[in-house]
Amino acid sequence: MSEPRKILVTSALPYANGSIHLGHMLEYIQTDMWVRFQKHRGNQCIYVCADDAHGSAIMLRAEKEGITPEQLIANVKAEHSADFADFLVDFDNFHSTHSDENRELSSMIYTRLRDAGHIATRSITQYFDPEKQMFLADRFIKGTCPKCGTEDQYGDNCEKCGATYAPTDLKNPKSAISGATPVLKESQHFFFKLPDFDAMLKSWTRSGTLQEAVANKIAEWLDAGLQQWDISRDAPYFGFEIPGEPGKYFYVWLDAPIGYMASFKNLCARRPDLDFDAYWAKDSTAELYHFIGKDIVNFHALFWPAMLEGAGFRKPTGINVHGYLTVNGQKMSKSRGTFIKARTYLDNLPPEYLRYYYAAKLSRGVDDLDLNLEDFVQKVNSDLIGKVVNIASRCAGFIHKGNAGVLVAGNAAPELTDAFLVAAPGIAEAYEARDFARAMREIMGLADRANAYIADKAPWSLAKQEGKQDEVQAVCALGINLFRQLVIFLKPVLPLLAADAENFLNVAPLTWDDHLTLLSDHRLNPFLPLMTRIDPVKVQAMSDASKEDLTASDTSAAPQGNGELLKEPLAAEIDFDAFAAVDLRVALILKAEHVDGADKLLRLTLDIGDEQRNVFSGIKSAYPNPAELEGRLTMMIANLKPRKMRFGISEGMVMAAGPGGEEIYLLSPDSGAKPGQRIK
Ligand code: 2FM
Ligand code: ZN
Repeated sequence: MSEPRKILVTSALPYANGSIHLGHMLEYIQTDMWVRFQKHRGNQCIYVCADDAHGSAIMLRAEKEGITPEQLIANVKAEHSADFADFLVDFDNFHSTHSDENRELSSMIYTRLRDAGHIATRSITQYFDPEKQMFLADRFIKGTCPKCGTEDQYGDNCEKCGATYAPTDLKNPKSAISGATPVLKESQHFFFKLPDFDAMLKSWTRSGTLQEAVANKIAEWLDAGLQQWDISRDAPYFGFEIPGEPGKYFYVWLDAPIGYMASFKNLCARRPDLDFDAYWAKDSTAELYHFIGKDIVNFHALFWPAMLEGAGFRKPTGINVHGYLTVNGQKMSKSRGTFIKARTYLDNLPPEYLRYYYAAKLSRGVDDLDLNLEDFVQKVNSDLIGKVVNIASRCAGFIHKGNAGVLVAGNAAPELTDAFLVAAPGIAEAYEARDFARAMREIMGLADRANAYIADKAPWSLAKQEGKQDEVQAVCALGINLFRQLVIFLKPVLPLLAADAENFLNVAPLTWDDHLTLLSDHRLNPFLPLMTRIDPVKVQAMSDASKEDLTASDTSAAPQGNGELLKEPLAAEIDFDAFAAVDLRVALILKAEHVDGADKLLRLTLDIGDEQRNVFSGIKSAYPNPAELEGRLTMMIANLKPRKMRFGISEGMVMAAGPGGEEIYLLSPDSGAKPGQRIK
């Protein structure tokens, strides 16, 4: 037997100023299933997390609620902990970045970096709110977009035209906190000299620590050249003061990943079997994995390993990145009722249904995962109830009635139990690789074989025949054993089902290796229903509860730039057939170019799945640099009769809004749409 592995695992630390939703849960469930699998296999696997409690957003929210930041983070921690526990996410420790351990470790890491020459200081000029007496992060400044003139845009990018800029480029800037006009002010900032770690990062990011797609993205950043990272913020700020620098605080993202270490250190204090250095010292042989979403890769695959290296600690073994969650094919949305909080789900449905659905759709890549609510009902009902639980409920009664609940000895179909044995290493390999979808497919394939066997033997018919009682018992004992195997394989995903099944099977908690044996001459406990079908009414109730009423005040908060559109009178009514006759498609802009001799037109080459289209569009005034459109998705009318124009034939029309001139806004579908998909 090989030595158990020592593995430390983390999920990203959720901010302590908001509720957990199903998008967050994708990551915690993914990580929890992997951790449970490792424990099931007998490895020492420790799963730590914490609330990410620092930053100006938390400070301002506490102020708004009239409580201290400490009270706010305590309240949120209680809420988060309950959500995780009820989703069966079994952290070994859930701590807070606002903790003594984190303060000590952050100071130590900073001091080591500083003493090794990796910290620089220089003065920078930023917007300052003269009323609130605080510097303003980009998202706390609003103003008019310098490119398209849309009002009420954030300090770093325009939601309307997508332009990115510095807050100082905004026209008519205002503090989003007080409404005051900000002034420019200088202050001394502290920078982490990331370029010092260029060579290390180039080799570390290519050493099997990252998925290929992630490593490729990072390589682009590394090739573009690393910049120093601003790690300080001026008071007032909710965080840790930088040692020896009164009024200067660590930026929340400096001490957040150190929160992983701090949570583990906090755990070590009550678990004498754990040694902090065995996991974090430079020569540690333990494995360290961080599960994160694709939006925070730079912090985990560049800044964090560089900080660890510079401060003399070990680096992560792997950064496991997942994609975003969409619901019914779109970004989660409050008005569609698809922005579902963890608690709202739990108020309506059991946690394991979502755990199973996520498992069935999660592979090891960074693709987005879609929670399609209809498919969710169908898949859970068909796989968990129709295939897995069904085996036990079909067989248990005959064993209780015909043999006092005792499984007879023997094996009625060795070829079937052999198939389960042979499949086990592949299932384990899929779990290990985080390819849960493959693991679930293989497990359900086995469930299909078990069901086919039982359907073929039909113990319900045999039971009515004379002299067939032994066969009924043999078939059903095997059925129960196959059910037990499936439960062993599914236990990391469905821990409650496993606990209930262990109770029914009258066995100690099952471990992975238990699949190597069968129960024989063994007494069962009475069978109680293990799971019930999802009632779609519950799913509807969950969506309804998630829907935010669109009140009058929400409408008035809409960007004022829409005024133009509202003035345009509505066109005459059309019937459904007229609408259905229009074939709208998602189109990818492959090429966008000026047209010689045309003042208003751009020539667009569009990909609509199976074919390419050439379209002339009068949008040049809004897009003077057409190349910026390339690679973007838009929508086109694909069945418009081709039109002969002076410059060539136009094969369709793209869709845009706005009165004209610079104010033309090309429409785009949400990310995830594919070229050629029909818009309905
Ligand atoms: O993006 C976020 O939600 C951050 N709170 C994640 C922090 S992860 C870690 F570095 F602390
Ligand atoms: Zn703009």
